Amino acid sequence: MAIQRTFSIIKPDATKRNLTGAINAKIEAAGLRIVAQKRIRMTREQAEIFYGVHRERPFYGELVAFMVSEPVVVQVLEGEDAIVKYREVMGATDPAEAAEGTIRKEFALSKGENAVHGSDAPETAAEEIAYFFAGLELVG
Ligand code: CMP
Repeated sequence: MAIQRTFSIIKPDATKRNLTGAINAKIEAAGLRIVAQKRIRMTREQAEIFYGVHRERPFYGELVAFMVSEPVVVQVLEGEDAIVKYREVMGATDPAEAAEGTIRKEFALSKGENAVHGSDAPETAAEEIAYFFAGLELVG
């Protein structure tokens, strides 16, 4: 498997509880490298566009409001099979279903306030990275 990049967000529930370092430690322990990272306050427009695929879902309004409620940390992670590997490290969307040792099992509060986001496929990873990072910010 080739070296890949994936896009990650440490969400408001986690930044608010000062868990950025604890989550980064799990990312690094899994063999993923944080090659870019910044703490931002997402705008409503950014959140609406980022989660546009969920526009028709009943939780969309709540999701957008949550994502703009506190700062988030956006990241680019690099490593072998990074997309699947990070989804394994994150655990299931619902922390009640997440495996032991995963980020969501340890840190998520609910299906909505679930600590982290990770891209689900190579195409979305490329789009999501380009949405939040300029090429010059990715030094490897
Ligand atoms: P994420 O991986 O960022 O992508 C979509 C997000 O929608 C998901 O994580 C959750 O935070 C959120 N989500 C999914 N299902 C629900 C739900 N039933 N209620 C509230 N939020 C949800």
